[in-house]
Amino acid sequence: MKTWEKYNKVTRIMVPDENLVRFVQKTFPDFKKRKKIKILDAGFASGRHLVYLAKQGFDVRGFDYSNESLKFAKNWLKKEKLAIEVKQADILKLPYKDNSFDVFIEIGMVEHFFSGDREKAISEAFRVLKPGGRLFFIVKKTGDYLEGAGKKLEKGTYLINESFIKDTPYHFFDKKELKALLKNFKELDLNYTILTRNNTIVEIHDWIAIAKK
Ligand SMILES: C[S@@+](CC[C@H](N)C(=O)[O-])C[C@H]1O[C@@H](n2cnc3c(N)ncnc32)[C@H](O)[C@@H]1O
Repeated sequence: MKTWEKYNKVTRIMVPDENLVRFVQKTFPDFKKRKKIKILDAGFASGRHLVYLAKQGFDVRGFDYSNESLKFAKNWLKKEKLAIEVKQADILKLPYKDNSFDVFIEIGMVEHFFSGDREKAISEAFRVLKPGGRLFFIVKKTGDYLEGAGKKLEKGTYLINESFIKDTPYHFFDKKELKALLKNFKELDLNYTILTRNNTIVEIHDWIAIAKK
């Protein structure tokens, strides 16, 4: 929790994730129909996807459990004159009804959870999605430069110290376990990105999973 308060105090990512931009454009090309699409952004941090998706015409809301995140995002939404419902909530026990959302977005949160909580978080996402609703999920992939770069805490999970996120568990998913985690979903579209930095010395590997309830 302390990690996330610090993170949300200094890390202000203000532009949307390009994979999410592509996903919404491809899945919901008709701007006029978007106001009927109910999206939940899990762990919104700065609120970058709340702002982006609202401006793109969607009915979006979100939650985060960090005070700093709530403070920053509420302020930003106010400046943008966007009336969006934001809640302080834990993904492990969500204050939303079953079958409520057309899209559930989870980017970069569940990769910090231990086994058991990863499954709980995904079952909450499944519960609040409408039948036919879509999960958009980004997590770390095996092969990432940070894998193994800290004390091993569990199988595939290491205590990592990196620039933004200090002393935090990171789990690196392989394909088999990611498929097992998402086994209750159908039409799984599983892809990954590899970004290189520092003349390709650093490789950042992420899964991008899209699936339907
Ligand atoms: C790496 S940031 C995610 C960034 C954000 N999804 C984005 O794309 O900009 C992780 C966020 O998840 C939040 N978080 C971590 N554990 C959580 C939990 N159990 N329930 C709700 N929010 C949580 C943190 O406060 C933090 O804002």
